Amino acid sequence: MTYAEITGWGKALPPIVLSNSDLERIVDTNDDWITSRTGMKERRISHVEVSELSTVAAAQALAAAGLEPGDVDLLITATCTPETIIPPTSAVVQSKLGLNRAGAFDLNANCSGFVYGMVVASDMIKSGSVKRVLLVGAEKLSYIVDYTDRTTCVLFGDAAGAAVLEATDEPVGVLASELGVDGDAAPFLCVPQFGTLGGPGPRDPEHASLYMEGQEVFRRAVTKMGEASVNVVGAAGWSLDDVDLLIPHQANLRIIDATARRLGIESSKVFVNVHAYGNTSAATVPVALTEALESGRVTPGAHLVFAAFGGGLTWAAAAVRWGNRVEPLATSDMRVPDTDKTVWDVLEPNFEFFGRGGDRE
Ligand code: UT7
Repeated sequence: MTYAEITGWGKALPPIVLSNSDLERIVDTNDDWITSRTGMKERRISHVEVSELSTVAAAQALAAAGLEPGDVDLLITATCTPETIIPPTSAVVQSKLGLNRAGAFDLNANCSGFVYGMVVASDMIKSGSVKRVLLVGAEKLSYIVDYTDRTTCVLFGDAAGAAVLEATDEPVGVLASELGVDGDAAPFLCVPQFGTLGGPGPRDPEHASLYMEGQEVFRRAVTKMGEASVNVVGAAGWSLDDVDLLIPHQANLRIIDATARRLGIESSKVFVNVHAYGNTSAATVPVALTEALESGRVTPGAHLVFAAFGGGLTWAAAAVRWGNRVEPLATSDMRVPDTDKTVWDVLEPNFEFFGRGGDRE
């Protein structure tokens, strides 16, 4: 039988930081509220497009797997902030990386996109239709966040992460998965009129930003991430005690803690970096996976649980048995470029469009 091993991993984080104290200068919020309600301290704001973040993360993942661009059969880019609708961001990344024999498509399952992508990639490899998949989760959420709305703007950031999945005979990779969606609850987390619903002409700022009813989403996220995590552990034939590490979507420390409680695992078995990057939607899970490996939290043969929840409202979970290798075979020289711009320089076009908050000077 064929399985799909994760053999490469990488991340791309823009250098510009938006801190809680920066946010205090533009909306009526404070570090105490943000920290206690979300666990967040900082997030990154990108001065480059989502394809550039994707390309850097993907190049790192390819190097970690010891692969050349021509080895890749399929590129999947999970994003809800593509830089264009036509072409898909995957086509731009394919060109930048020179993936000269790959197919490529974008996948939009909002914050659950990367875990959805893991399942799609893994099942395509298991079916024999492809051997090597490059999977990216990348977002530039600062494009759709209204920085006058304190209920959303403190939560989101920009980033990309990537993984390589390869065919193997060893029983590793995604062993069980669950994908779900509750479209009835979609209005609780949406950009109400971004797309054809907005009609022809330029975007209408009032309906082109991210809207969220936080408590409604929170409640469902806690339930579904917990349930789906428990389900995939059972479907993989594991007991809850077998779980070595939970790598959850990083939307809120309280949601992560609740998911861990549902799995009955202690905090030492949960990977958290929400304090550093906030919620980067489809990018949180691959960035977390990469940092879990970098910090030695993934051991050979480890039993991992991935879980995510987001717009749709979608959710996804996967039970993944890690292979033997936890070190990258190589690293790429590709980096997100430096910039002299400040966070306010980069956010200025957003402020001009959505309006500006308090006095930043
Ligand atoms: O990745 C996609 C999935 N997304 C999520 O899973 C996010 C789920 N939701 C959440 O994480 C939480 O609901 C939030 C972090 C968004 C909000 O936390 P909460 O504990 O649910 O707060 P709340 O919305 O009930 O608001 C409590 C109070 C309100 O004031 P009143 O009505 O009690 O006077 C808000 O107006 O906090 C106020 N508030 C703020 N205060 C300071 C809301 N945002 C802020 C803010 N700073 N940024």
